[in-house]
Amino acid sequence: MRIPEGTIEEINQRINIVDLVQDFVTLEKRGSRYWGLCPFHSEKTPSMSVDPDKNLFYCFGCHKGGTMFTFLMEVEHIPFVEAAEKLAERAGIEVPAGDRDPEVERGKRALNDLYSRITSSFHYFLTRHKTGEKAREYLSERGFGAEAIERFQLGFAPEDRRWLYGFLRQKNYSDDFLASSGLFSKKYPHVSIFSNRLIFPIRSPGGDVVAFGGRSIDGREPKYINSPETELYQKRRILFGLSRAVKGIQKYRRVVVVEGYFDVMAFFEAGLPIAVAPLGTALTEEQGRVMRRYADRVTLVFDDDRAGLQAARRGIEIMEKVGMQCDVAVPHGGKDPADILLNEGSNSLQNMLKSPVNGFQFLVQKAGEQHGTSGAEHKSQVVKDLAPYVQSIDSEVKREDIIKYLADFLQVEPKAVLHDINAIKQGKQPRSEGQQAVKEEKKRIGTDLFLMLAVVVNCSYFGDVRRVIGIDDLQDEDARELYIALEEAYRSDELDIDHVIPRIESERVQHLVFEKSATGEYEENVDAIVKDGIRNIKVRSLRTKRQTLLEKIKKVEKKGSDFGVLKELLSEKMFLDEELIRIKGDAQ
Ligand code: CTP
Ligand code: MN
Repeated sequence: MRIPEGTIEEINQRINIVDLVQDFVTLEKRGSRYWGLCPFHSEKTPSMSVDPDKNLFYCFGCHKGGTMFTFLMEVEHIPFVEAAEKLAERAGIEVPAGDRDPEVERGKRALNDLYSRITSSFHYFLTRHKTGEKAREYLSERGFGAEAIERFQLGFAPEDRRWLYGFLRQKNYSDDFLASSGLFSKKYPHVSIFSNRLIFPIRSPGGDVVAFGGRSIDGREPKYINSPETELYQKRRILFGLSRAVKGIQKYRRVVVVEGYFDVMAFFEAGLPIAVAPLGTALTEEQGRVMRRYADRVTLVFDDDRAGLQAARRGIEIMEKVGMQCDVAVPHGGKDPADILLNEGSNSLQNMLKSPVNGFQFLVQKAGEQHGTSGAEHKSQVVKDLAPYVQSIDSEVKREDIIKYLADFLQVEPKAVLHDINAIKQGKQPRSEGQQAVKEEKKRIGTDLFLMLAVVVNCSYFGDVRRVIGIDDLQDEDARELYIALEEAYRSDELDIDHVIPRIESERVQHLVFEKSATGEYEENVDAIVKDGIRNIKVRSLRTKRQTLLEKIKKVEKKGSDFGVLKELLSEKMFLDEELIRIKGDAQ
């Protein structure tokens, strides 16, 4: 299961971290580095830096950092081997088959194959089989014809609950495998969870079917049944419709979030192939980040009811967190987009997207409706409602704008709103422990570590260091660890940061390297930093040795006997003195 060292090196040579990160985050070049919104914490101004020369990233906000392997692992929540395989594929490098975990791989591939096979079978029933007729009728009554059916590969699960099992057993799938597929009842393993239902294949962003949603067409409850989470499917990360909408979303840099399957289809029908839906749950931050990859702006379209309002509130907060411009379009008259398409046609849906309300204004309006705006008590309630949102905004300019709007809305002075919001803020959490730890970490860096960090970041200087300084000259444990890693790389003729980092054992020290490399604080005056560092450490070391030597000499002199030893010690001292003078002289 190990990825060979050579493969890792080849990946490093063929892929630049900037290209990889750019798949997830929009980057902007500033100086020799690239900057973007960190995908690992919520922010609105970019604090993640990507260094194309060293192939490293680092976030100044949350202090996450690492190589492109770590980046992919973190961003996709996958183990190292999987990240390496993905990168290898991207780089066009073959990973020797023996190095993968064959069990896991086979399991996933088999599940993928199974879902794609069933998609075709269900699709066949819907489009060409008699049993699918009523589902076709149902769709057409709701305004969806062959085009929509093809576009989303809709299907129909036959009434006979045992059909699926029989069909798959015939194709030689084992009982164990079928039991783990998520498609059958746990209690009755021959009974499919889908029967007499219209089937929506749910796809990964890449287009693989990873789950199904099934809508009842005969009024039987529940209205929807969805297949469970599997190795392939985690609902908090998947958006229905995304694989089809990705092109449109990228083109317009805009995405529309709706509540349900039919609403996604409705927007496509109306010539707006930019709609996606979470899967029966509230929008998650993961889904927000996925959208952030492709769009700058999101329009939330939720039902005009309590649940819809709740969903919109949450959506606005999440979008603020992931740094997307967010607005809200409320379908009128308690209808959803699918109803609107059916009753009023495409134009109505298109118009809805033309005049959305800015997310914050929407929140203010709704809070106003809820609490009322007459009288101090009600007004202060509205402010209180909105305070968490206002506080979550990073941009001072934007926050000021919003406070003005809110003050205007309540017909009070902006000062008063600001005062109330700040008062609420007082009770907020103090700085996190993590930030405190980082501060202390910085304080901790002494001469030794300072030098060794500078050298790791600028590996070519290590030759100069090792000529003068040995590991014993270093007192700081972390600095020694860096020395060892550098020395190992040096001896293997692999003296570059990519080869040094994996040789550092402590994660904390690795982390420090990422941080230092990203701050660029060792990039100017490296010559001087290294030269000073070497000299200071050497002088300290020589002085310590000299001190020990002097003590020995004193002892021997006291004894007054061993003249040979004394002579040797004295010549050693002379040698040290000379070296000290020479080294200090170097300084001038
Ligand atoms: N949903 C679900 N399970 C349910 C109900 C709903 O997974 N029991 C999800 C589905 O993804 C559905 C979405 O929540 O599409 C929205 O639910 P709802 O508004 O009730 O359904 P619609 O999509 O509007 O379906 P329809 O228009 O057919 O009523
Ligand atoms: Mn609906």
